[in-house]
Amino acid sequence: MSSVPAGPFDPVTEEITAFDLSVTGRIPAELRGRYLRIGPNALGVEDPAAAHWMHGPGMVHGVRLQDGRAEWYRNRWVRSDHVRRALGEPEKGVRPPYGGDFACNTHVIRHAGRIFALTEGEACPQELTGELDTVGPHSLGGSPPNFTAAAHTKRDPHTGELHSVSYLTGSDTARHLVMDVDGTVTHWRDVPMDGSPMIHDFALTERHVVIYDSPVVFSAEAHAGGARVPFVWDHDRPSRVAVLPRDGGPVRWFEVAPCFVSHTLNAYDDGDRVIVDLVTFPEGFDVDAMRVPGYGGLDRWTIDLTAGHLTEERLDDRPQEFPRVNEEVTSVRHRFGYTVATAALYRRYVPTGERAPDAARENALIKHDLERGTTEVHHLGTHETVGEAAFAPAASGAGEERGYLLAYAHNPERDAADLLVVSAEDFLGEPVARVHLPVRVPLGLHGSWLPD
Ligand SMILES: [Fe+2]
Repeated sequence: MSSVPAGPFDPVTEEITAFDLSVTGRIPAELRGRYLRIGPNALGVEDPAAAHWMHGPGMVHGVRLQDGRAEWYRNRWVRSDHVRRALGEPEKGVRPPYGGDFACNTHVIRHAGRIFALTEGEACPQELTGELDTVGPHSLGGSPPNFTAAAHTKRDPHTGELHSVSYLTGSDTARHLVMDVDGTVTHWRDVPMDGSPMIHDFALTERHVVIYDSPVVFSAEAHAGGARVPFVWDHDRPSRVAVLPRDGGPVRWFEVAPCFVSHTLNAYDDGDRVIVDLVTFPEGFDVDAMRVPGYGGLDRWTIDLTAGHLTEERLDDRPQEFPRVNEEVTSVRHRFGYTVATAALYRRYVPTGERAPDAARENALIKHDLERGTTEVHHLGTHETVGEAAFAPAASGAGEERGYLLAYAHNPERDAADLLVVSAEDFLGEPVARVHLPVRVPLGLHGSWLPD
C-alpha cells in the first residue's frame, strides 16, 4: 500500500455508510435534510490521476442532518452499466432513452420530488434515491427529441419551474428547456449557435434567459485525433451572449471580450438592463488539458437592452470559483453571493499555479455583499482544501442572509473530510458545526441542500 498521502483530487476507492457522525459545535436544529455533492471519481482505471477529470463516473457524497444530529454519511457511485461492470455487479441493461451509458458526475439537484445526477452533453439525467442508490436513467415527461441533460439548472422561485440550457456535442444548437413543478417539459426553444460551443452554465432572470456562446468549440479534428474532450479554443471566434426573452420575443446578441463562462452567480432584470454576476476563464482555456491561463475573480456584466451594449466590470479580483446564492433569489435581485478560494484548484488549473499570487494560495469561503461592495473572507487552513459551498436557508422565506453555507473541506489532522456549517450572518465566526466524515471527499464539483 502506498504511503503517499492522497491529493485533493484523488478518487476514493470504497463506498462507505456511517451513522451518527461526530460533530464539533452544534448542528442548527432548523437544518433538516440532506447535503449532497457529486463529482467525478475514477473507477477501474490503472492510473486515476491520468484520467480526465470530466470523464470520471460520478460519485455522490451525502450527509443527512436531522434534529441537531448528523444521522449518516454515504458515498455512492452513480450506476451506469459501465460502473456496474467495474464493481462486479450485474448490468441492468437499462439504456437511457437518449445519450450514452454515462454515470452523471457534475451536479446533483432535486426537482419534482426526485433527486437527479446531471452532466452536460450526451448524458441523460439519472435518478437517485434518498439513500443515494441509483434508480436509473430518467426521461422527463414531454421531452423533445434528443433531449439531454444540462450540468446547471435554475429554478424560478416564483413559478417553481426548472430551466436548463443544453446542447449536444458537435451540434450547432443550444436548447432552452422548461420543466414544470411536476417534472413535465412544458416548453423548449432551440437557438442556432453558428458553430458548436461548449455551454456549461447560463443565467436566468424574471424576463430573460442568457446563453453564453464562447470560443471553446467542438473540433472534429481534435475528436479524430483522440482528444478526450474534443473542444478547442478558436481564437478567430468572438465571445457572445444571447439574450432570450422568456415570453418568446426575438433573440438578441451581444459581444464580450474573449472568455469562457465558468459559472453564474445569479442574474436579474433592472429595468431595461440585465445584470449578470459570474466567474469566467480568460482567453486560451484548454478544456482537454484542463488548463486555464490564470483564472479570474467575480465579474458583473450589465447588458443594456435599450442601448444595445454590454459592459463588463470586475467586482473582486481574487481567484475564486463555484459562485452560489440563496436560491430563493435565483432570477431576482440578489444582495449576497458566496464563492470559494481553493488553492489546489488554482494549482491544478493554472500552469503557473506554483508561482501563484498570494490570494491564490489560500483556502477560504468568500461572502460578497454586492449592495455595499464589500466582502468577508472566512479563512481556512493551508491544507484545508475546500469545495463549493451551497446555501441552506434557515427557513423558507426567512430572508436572503438567514441560513448556512455547507461545504466539504479536508481536515488534515484526520485526513478525512469535514462538512462545514458556516452561518451566513456570522460569516467570520467559527463554523457553527463541523461534521466529521469518516473518509476523504475528493475535491469538486457541485451539490445541493435538499431540505425535508
Ligand atoms: Fe459547473
